[in-house]
Amino acid sequence: MIDYNKSTKITVISGAGFSKASGIPTFRGKNGLWKNYDPSELATPSAFARDPIVVWQWYKWRLNIILNADPNPAHLTLAKVEQQGLDIAILTQNVDDLHERAGSQNVTHLHGEIRQARCVSCGEKFSWTLDLLNIINDIPKCNNCGSVCRPDVVWFGECLDSNILQGCIDRLFMTDILFVAGTSAVVYPVAEFPFLAQLQNPSIKIFEFNLDYTPISNIVTEIILGSVEKTLPKFFSI
Ligand code: APR
Ligand code: ZN
Repeated sequence: MIDYNKSTKITVISGAGFSKASGIPTFRGKNGLWKNYDPSELATPSAFARDPIVVWQWYKWRLNIILNADPNPAHLTLAKVEQQGLDIAILTQNVDDLHERAGSQNVTHLHGEIRQARCVSCGEKFSWTLDLLNIINDIPKCNNCGSVCRPDVVWFGECLDSNILQGCIDRLFMTDILFVAGTSAVVYPVAEFPFLAQLQNPSIKIFEFNLDYTPISNIVTEIILGSVEKTLPKFFSI
């Protein structure tokens, strides 16, 4: 258990494991997406340049899963903590909107949002309309300038939005309690975040929620092994 009050700054870094119980596949580990798909064929700028239709079909397939998924008890727990008036910020690597659908408001998407598309020319962003999913061989066009659009997510080899990154670092540097949940902690720069936070504030408490140990397990205050959809609600006894 931890003692916290309204002035405690709580930050949560969530990864694909957080949404696993909602039926959304993780990327690595057992049945991970990267076991069956080659990321260089689907989640890189060159893959999109080579065959945008295949990339769009894959994202439509993933979006369909997400649209049919529900937030799980882990998402709902964080939303309840926020609704109790605690200062909690979620920095998620996930492109789904389950944190928001659970009721969390303070959510930052580090790797973008699958429900948004972005024009490759003018940068205009727009959210998906459901009918997009049915047009299998179509590539969404920009409402603004008519150019081709891409999923508004961060691909391998691309940088994160610098303003978003700076905002996350600022938050980490003022964090009293950091939760790292459902992430393999192998993708940078997010994998660096717990180390940065601890360098800035050696007395920070870091709790890791995962099924297995990860490269950050040896610096955390405590690792709570198990399924996060069970362990997190218990941890907050919500
Ligand atoms: N409860 C807790 N942890 C879980 C659960 C669960 N129910 N299910 C899986 N996990 C853990 C796994 O043990 C693993 O450590 O979640 C982690 C999932 O790791 P990844 O699939 O690598 O997901 P993530 O860390 O979010 O990947 C980071 O990599 O491919 C890119 O852009 C993609 O955002 C993604 C980034
Ligand atoms: Zn445009």
